[in-house]
Amino acid sequence: MALYAIGDLHLGLSVDKPMDVFGPGWANHVERLQEAFSKLHDGDVTVLCGDTSWGNDLGESLADFRLIDSFPGRKLLLKGNHDYWWTTAAKMRRFFAENGLTTLDILHNNCHAYGDWALCGTRGWFFEEDQKPHNAKVFNREVIRLEASLKLAEGRPILAFLHYPPLYQGYRCGEILRKLEAYRVERCFYGHLHGPSHRRALEGAFGGVDYSLVSADYLQFVPKKICD
Ligand SMILES: [Fe+2]
Ligand SMILES: [Fe+2]
Repeated sequence: MALYAIGDLHLGLSVDKPMDVFGPGWANHVERLQEAFSKLHDGDVTVLCGDTSWGNDLGESLADFRLIDSFPGRKLLLKGNHDYWWTTAAKMRRFFAENGLTTLDILHNNCHAYGDWALCGTRGWFFEEDQKPHNAKVFNREVIRLEASLKLAEGRPILAFLHYPPLYQGYRCGEILRKLEAYRVERCFYGHLHGPSHRRALEGAFGGVDYSLVSADYLQFVPKKICD
């Protein structure tokens, strides 16, 4: 039994969205993911840190979900900025159940257990969002969601998962960083960064939290093992 994280699978089995246009690093990315996930086991848990499927609604994402469901172990899905299919937790869970997707669940306004660990998370915030309409409202909601998830840990040690990096080169999302520190999150995993931006990603300790980038192209499409 092991815990893994990987973000940004950017699957598009039902939509015309080839990923190799984003550079040679994305060549055969679906096959590479299949190969890497085939090494996992049924007792494993993988947190998918957002940007999972290009589908515009649940129906368009079904083929991608079926592929993920075919991989060993449980998969916990977090919302990314490109997950246009994302809807309410009740609708997503019903859709998973109706389609026999038994290994998928949502990490959103909740917290999952892995051994003694609490797995918490939300989409997070990035400077790209600052220009969008209603950004203050959406931002406050994200901070509230993060705190709601962290609270549910109820004293257990915490691993946090975000889609957006809370820190990146000169960018710091103070409110999110402060929540992670206040709840003594031990490690934080995030995605979203691709290609040349990998070079500017911050990894390692910052304010008592250990950060790791887990976007799929950064990991060469191999889920990052966190612990047994
Ligand atoms: Fe993203
Ligand atoms: Fe992405």
